[in-house]
Amino acid sequence: MNRHLLSIDDLTADDIATLLGTAAEMHDVQRREVKKLPALRGRTVINLFFEDSTRTRSSFEIAGKWLSADVINLSAKGSSASKGESLRDTVLTVTAMGIDGLVMRHSASGAAHQVAGWIGVPVINAGDGMHEHPTQALLDSYTLQRHFAAADGGLGSLEGKRVAIVGDLTHSRVFRSNVKCLGKLGAEVVAVAPPTLMPSGIGEWSKADGFTTSYELDPVLPEVDAVMMLRVQRERMSGGYFPSPREYTVGYGLTRDRLRLLKDGAPILHPGPMNRGLEISADAADAAGSAVLDQVSAGVAVRMSVLYHLLAGEENE
Ligand code: NCD
Repeated sequence: MNRHLLSIDDLTADDIATLLGTAAEMHDVQRREVKKLPALRGRTVINLFFEDSTRTRSSFEIAGKWLSADVINLSAKGSSASKGESLRDTVLTVTAMGIDGLVMRHSASGAAHQVAGWIGVPVINAGDGMHEHPTQALLDSYTLQRHFAAADGGLGSLEGKRVAIVGDLTHSRVFRSNVKCLGKLGAEVVAVAPPTLMPSGIGEWSKADGFTTSYELDPVLPEVDAVMMLRVQRERMSGGYFPSPREYTVGYGLTRDRLRLLKDGAPILHPGPMNRGLEISADAADAAGSAVLDQVSAGVAVRMSVLYHLLAGEENE
């Protein structure tokens, strides 16, 4: 396995299977009364977040702690980055303290990649601008593999499963990582967005990565085995992507009426944070088929697995 996790490109299909298999074992820890494994005892991990986060940051923190690592959280607000320190100086400073791994989120696409070239410890990309969010894609695939469980109750296969990814694809690192991850696992992705939120150049890209696209949601929903709704990322928009929130919902929201178009039992995913009433209705978010909280729970297990494989070293393998 690659020493860093910057992109799903760093992982082969076998690497993904290994990571998700370990995640399934780690998931059992969540149900224990005492949630500690000794695997990363004596190691220190820094969570360096230059963008806001609820789930990703806290689940990396919990994951590190359950593996007995010492985890330190640093955010741009409250660190010297807000005094104008460069990203390079910030990461060299924290690395000089003797850390064993760096988890980072940054608004610039490619930031984690750049940092990996500056420091000698594993870097895990927890979201870089509009580029990638590999652990989110891994936890989404894990959630789906658990949903489509094998006969023995273990993780199921995504081979031939059809998954719609719907919403603000232009601004979504979750979309970019998921297309690659689901593709490697044999799923068939249908990317659905209004023309203004379809990434430019998607025609060539979809041919290369083997997924299809649609500007319409209604004909797609009855055809898929799972649907992933993505947030409308207003903080990355300068306006003008759609006429009004209401029109977005009418065209692309998972409304109560649209729920009826889904196959029975097809899970509904959303990485969060949700804009209830915009891309997803309360009926859909809280439906029996909603996997939103399963994704959150999976996030801890998958991040434990990633930290373990990148930081534990050979003696623990
Ligand atoms: C996503 C992110 O930050 O990229 N959220 C997350 O990690 N749970 C998606 C989003 O912000 O919409």
